[in-house]
Amino acid sequence: MSQPPTDSLPADETFAVRVEPMDWHFDARSDESLFEAARRAGIRLPTSCRNGTCRACISVLVEGSIRYRVEWPGLSSSEKEEGYLLPCVAVAQSPLVIDVPEAERIEPR
Ligand code: FES
Repeated sequence: MSQPPTDSLPADETFAVRVEPMDWHFDARSDESLFEAARRAGIRLPTSCRNGTCRACISVLVEGSIRYRVEWPGLSSSEKEEGYLLPCVAVAQSPLVIDVPEAERIEPR
């Protein structure tokens, strides 16, 4: 599945994101990654490279639609079909539910 870069998308859409299993919530704009949006709301998602290559942030998309900021995020086609996502380069395209047991509360930025 081809996913065009998000830089050309409007920045004024915001989608609700629920983080399982904690039932935490944050809003994600269509011009920021899920990692950035969560951090702004005081939730730290696992991360390392932040460019979609190391897979340290791999999580599960339970519900909703995303697209990627990079052309080739480090997931196989089958992993994408199974619902895995990389929040460091994933951008919300609808309300989302993501499963990230390693998420932590931090000071909002
Ligand atoms: S932090 Fe490396 S792929 Fe997301």
